[in-house]
Amino acid sequence: MKLTNMFAAMGMVVASSVGFAHGHGSCSETELHEHMMSIKTELRSLAQDVKSDDLDGASGHVKALIGLFEDSKAETPYLFKEQKLTGSALESKQADYVAVLDDAIVKLKDIDSKIAMGDSGKIGSAVRELGKYRKIGHSKFKADC
Ligand code: HEM
Repeated sequence: MKLTNMFAAMGMVVASSVGFAHGHGSCSETELHEHMMSIKTELRSLAQDVKSDDLDGASGHVKALIGLFEDSKAETPYLFKEQKLTGSALESKQADYVAVLDDAIVKLKDIDSKIAMGDSGKIGSAVRELGKYRKIGHSKFKADC
């Protein structure tokens, strides 16, 4: 084998093992993971805007969060794939998951109306209450990986 061919072959072996390590087995490569990272960023910006009384900015972040939670409903948590759920078992777990996202969306809409009313005193505590949905969502639907 020519030396250049040997290096090419070695490169392919390395590339395919990297692909395997980060392939469909990895829970940090899901579309849902991407949405969640954006949710974390938007939530942080929302808290900052509420703190500095920038209600226009806050309203923009609430709308972005509603969109991200809506988009998350179309995804299946990695945990369900890990558990190899199918058929009605998968459907019922997916429905539980969507219901928690819907609860979070109801809360976000409530925050949005408090913002629209300029009810700044109550916005901060309502934003902090969103953490409850994170806790529920992660304890029930997030794989330990
Ligand atoms: C409310 C604020 C929330 C924040 C800030 C948040 C943040 C995050 C972050 C940063 C990750 C990935 C990194 C990690 O911790 O491992 C993640 C993963 C995940 N989150 Fe959330 N989350 C929130 C709410 C929710 C809710 C309400 C649900 C479900 C109803 C949920 C379900 C999940 C799942 C299933 C994963 C794993 C990803 C996967 O399975 O593909 N999260 N979240």
